[in-house]
Amino acid sequence: MKYQQQHLVAPSILAANFANLQHDVEMVNHSEADCLHLDVMDGRFVPNISFGFPVIKAINKYATKALDIHLMIVEPDKYINHCVFENTRMITVHYEACTHLHRSIAAIKEAGIKAGIPIQAGVALNPHTPVALLADIIRDVDLVCLMSVNPGFGGQSFIPQTLNKIRQLRHLMEQQKTNAFIEIDGGVKLDNAGAILKAGANVLVAGSTVFKSQNPTETIQQLKCLRPEMMA
Ligand code: DX5
Ligand code: ZN
Repeated sequence: MKYQQQHLVAPSILAANFANLQHDVEMVNHSEADCLHLDVMDGRFVPNISFGFPVIKAINKYATKALDIHLMIVEPDKYINHCVFENTRMITVHYEACTHLHRSIAAIKEAGIKAGIPIQAGVALNPHTPVALLADIIRDVDLVCLMSVNPGFGGQSFIPQTLNKIRQLRHLMEQQKTNAFIEIDGGVKLDNAGAILKAGANVLVAGSTVFKSQNPTETIQQLKCLRPEMMA
């Protein structure tokens, strides 16, 4: 797989200290991270509830990095406009939560245009959802988030089949002469991130790997420095 561009690193705030989010947001601001990954969970699409839009609003006030909002909720269309903040750069909805995915993707793009903010529209796939189902939407999306764990919780183990899905998605995009970010979310560690990049992904979401490490800033730097061509 040809290495196309420097990959992005997106620490997931789900693993941060919720009692002192400002501190962790500022740590990310001063790190080499590219984005701040924000998981909105509703207790319906996933069996957990995380935080909602007032919390993202507060984070936006302190964040200098791009906000990458991952909506793990049913009926996401209702909340797209709630996600539009000055720093919002990606909004991702789940394939499994959208009856009219094309409409949801269009609504994300429209919300960005209306606000004059360059917002990328993303679709996320659960581990069991085949990449082939994106054939008729891939040219319309800016980002595909492949869940590499069952969504809802941080700290789970990476599902190895995700590596095949990354390769299948690269192939699908090559066939259709289109390009979108391939984001991997769940169980990303320093010892599997190289293989993930080598398979063709270019956005690494990392929650516990970053926030539970001794030196989160250094861990972000290590994730950022990985080069797929250095991997066996
Ligand atoms: C999982 C979330 C992830 C989560 C990843 O449902 O979508 O963004 O924060 O956490 P780690 O990196 O700890 O697996
Ligand atoms: Zn996520």
